[in-house]
Amino acid sequence: MSKLWQKDYSLDSLMEEFTVSNDYILDQQLVIADCLASIAHARGLAKIGILSEDELSSLECGLQKVITLRQKDEFPITAQDEDCHTAIEGFLTNEIGDAGKKIHTGRSRNDQVQTALRIWMREFALKLCRETGEFSKALLDFAQKYEFVPMPGRTHMQIAMPSSVGLWAASFAEEFYDEAQRLMQLSWTLDQSPLGSAASYGVPLPLDREFTADQMGFARVQNNVLYANNSRGKFEAMLLDCCDYIALTASKLAQDLILFTLPEFGYFSLPKELCTGSSIMPQKKNPDGLELARSRSALVSSCSMRVKSIIRSLPSGYNRDFQDTKEPLITGTKATYQLVQIMSRMLQGLEVHEDRLTSACVPELYATDVVLSKVKAGENFRDTYKDIGLHLDSVQALDPIQTIKERSSIGTTGNLGLDDDLLFVRLMCEGCDEVLEAYSEVYKDLCDLEDVQVVLY
Ligand code: ARG
Repeated sequence: MSKLWQKDYSLDSLMEEFTVSNDYILDQQLVIADCLASIAHARGLAKIGILSEDELSSLECGLQKVITLRQKDEFPITAQDEDCHTAIEGFLTNEIGDAGKKIHTGRSRNDQVQTALRIWMREFALKLCRETGEFSKALLDFAQKYEFVPMPGRTHMQIAMPSSVGLWAASFAEEFYDEAQRLMQLSWTLDQSPLGSAASYGVPLPLDREFTADQMGFARVQNNVLYANNSRGKFEAMLLDCCDYIALTASKLAQDLILFTLPEFGYFSLPKELCTGSSIMPQKKNPDGLELARSRSALVSSCSMRVKSIIRSLPSGYNRDFQDTKEPLITGTKATYQLVQIMSRMLQGLEVHEDRLTSACVPELYATDVVLSKVKAGENFRDTYKDIGLHLDSVQALDPIQTIKERSSIGTTGNLGLDDDLLFVRLMCEGCDEVLEAYSEVYKDLCDLEDVQVVLY
């Protein structure tokens, strides 16, 4: 269809290519969210007498059709359309006539795209929170299974102190839990409706913003209409920052696994289905998935940085620069989601070689334990430390399992607190499920369709 702003001239074709870029392709991700928001907006317009009941129901019907088409991957958006907002309005006008021309009353594409993005981001945040929580839980189950399997603790990568597979796995579980919690906290910030802010300055119509926010299941209205527009890119950056930390932790875990699955270490191994081969060296079993986990983490970080760089010096109000924050949002979030999924798969397939882990616990690993046993018997720490340091050959290996069980302070190998960790993670996942189910109800109330999902990957 012609552009929403088209009047008496056509846009220069290079200018069109430059301004639309791949935005119309990315906008496929926003179609369902945009339709749900449009239904809420139409209901708001009917409430203040701008649409008749008949117009409202034909608009709802048309928007429901768009959702169904999009679910089948059959809703077209062309470069000439510019974006999903134009394609949807064009579809409505074709399908239902003049009522389609009224849907844009009292809104701008600026608050329209903000609202669609907000609905999309709040769903994504909870889905990623849930996925990360599930992964944290899987790590805790793994930690429980191998709680007292000894593993050398390393600092500077050198042999340091007795440790356990349980401590190693649970450390990542707690790290991912904290990161998932940040998404939970962010979902509160995302849970505010920008609809009704229009181009950035509101409109002279008595739009009931609380009503439309409530229709879309938002906890509240994003009050200041200029801030509602200025938060474009900012909320994306916040979400991508959460992704960045998750990806960073996944990258560190991948690095540990690359090391510990090396034949020279042999602590763990990956099944061949999760490894690739070499075109020339027949013996190779390469951890490409783990290596790409590291590089994807860099990609996610660059997405967060890109969004912040784009918005940093923008003047207040809508600026077209905002459009370029969409690509890093979609790319960075998708990469993070996949990263968590692939790392879960790696953990599921990980084999633990207790014999290699135990034999890696060489005598020097116990040097500090020997010092401390002498301290318990009354010797002073510094002199004993020096004495053992000068006679390392005298240090004998201790019983590895006993040494890890002997550590009894909170959070150490003998007292990991896995039950509490598991409880918190479970509560967090249940919390995500509850809210995601509430969103499903909201979507059903809006479009009368079951199982509508906004995030389609
Ligand atoms: N595709 C545009 C974006 O993502 C839609 C908003 C266009 N608004 C405008 N005033 N040109 O930002």
